[in-house]
Amino acid sequence: MEIADGIQEFIECSKELKSTNSQDKYLQGLFNKIDKAEKVTMRHELMSGIIVNSGQLLLKFGIACVSLVGGALLVKGEIDVITFFAFLMVVSRIYEPMNGSLMNLAALNALSVNVERMNEISDNHEMTGKEKLNNKGCDIVFDHVKFAYDTGEQVLYDVSFTAKQGEVTALVGASGSGKTTVSRLAARFWDTSEGNITVGGMDIKEADPEELLKLYSIVFQDVTLFDNTIMENIRVGKKDATDAEVLEAAKRANVLEFAGNLPEGMNTRIGENGAELSGGERQRISIARAFLKDAPIILLDEATASLDAENETKVQEALSSLISGKTVMVIAHRMRTVAQADKIIVLDKGRVIEEGSPEKLLDKDGAFAHMYKLQTQSGNWQIS
Ligand SMILES: Nc1ncnc2c1ncn2[C@@H]1O[C@H](COP(=O)(O)OP(=O)(O)OP(=O)(O)O)[C@@H](O)[C@H]1O
Ligand SMILES: [Mg+2]
Repeated sequence: MEIADGIQEFIECSKELKSTNSQDKYLQGLFNKIDKAEKVTMRHELMSGIIVNSGQLLLKFGIACVSLVGGALLVKGEIDVITFFAFLMVVSRIYEPMNGSLMNLAALNALSVNVERMNEISDNHEMTGKEKLNNKGCDIVFDHVKFAYDTGEQVLYDVSFTAKQGEVTALVGASGSGKTTVSRLAARFWDTSEGNITVGGMDIKEADPEELLKLYSIVFQDVTLFDNTIMENIRVGKKDATDAEVLEAAKRANVLEFAGNLPEGMNTRIGENGAELSGGERQRISIARAFLKDAPIILLDEATASLDAENETKVQEALSSLISGKTVMVIAHRMRTVAQADKIIVLDKGRVIEEGSPEKLLDKDGAFAHMYKLQTQSGNWQIS
């Protein structure tokens, strides 16, 4: 499993790895994994081989013994021919089932590896909840939220804030401060360790994850696209949408513009995971999906990769018309987004260290103001 994932990842990311010269390091890691798997598999095969073969040897040895000893006794006249044949019959009858059991034993041994893997999967706690949502409005409230990933390391310590409907709430903070974690928790990708998250007063832990997700449009950096036409990739936002609806969403997200230049327009296939599109184009498709879904909450992780100025303006335009009147939680990587937000939450090592409007935080002259100054000096928004 791990190896297959590793190879897939290597193929997908080979350009990035090459560009950062980390190809060799990555390959070394992959080889180590393969070595480890090879050793485990060999140990397993060797164990089964030894057990099955020595068992078979013993059985065959038994048959040979019976024939030899029986033959000798027969010659000496101590037993008669019928007894001799009776013994031979019994021995050959025993051989087959014993041999079969040995084979089954080997198969069971091999199965135990798969069973272990399945147990790992079924040990994952299944999220459940009421199918009927009873939220009133879509304000998102984090109330003393603590969270640790499976690895056990505490990532969020006591995070509390409100993202109001009709406002843009921007999460800012250094890399690793927990921004992505916060925005994914808001859509119940995982359950909190302590504390509650509510949407319009409804505890999201009590809601069925699938029903809950109907409230969200999620535009993350790592948008997943399918090797299909642009049209179908947008329709993912709402499966039963008519062509006219899809086209309308494509228009609002500025997808029609670049699709028009492609050989088959909206019916152009875009390659695996949109390989034939630029980052900005992929994002616009993902925004078009969000338009089509028209959900009341929007979670947005802005692209970190620098888009060219024209693409950025197009993405920005598409976004601003998408977000009006909704609860918007955005992980801001761009100065413009931060400056236009209604409220800013500054995260630092899993804690909220400042919150308020951009003006208020600048007046306060704290962490945000410091980041802002650095940014203005360097001309780059460097905090995330
Ligand atoms: N799936 C995961 N399993 C285990 N640990 C994780 C996982 N995702 C993130 N972390 C850890 O949680 C911490 C917060 O990560 P998070 O991705 O939320 O940060 P971030 O603020 O979004 O950073 P960035 O700006 O680089 O995207 C980091 O220390 C990270 O290593
Ligand atoms: Mg992140």
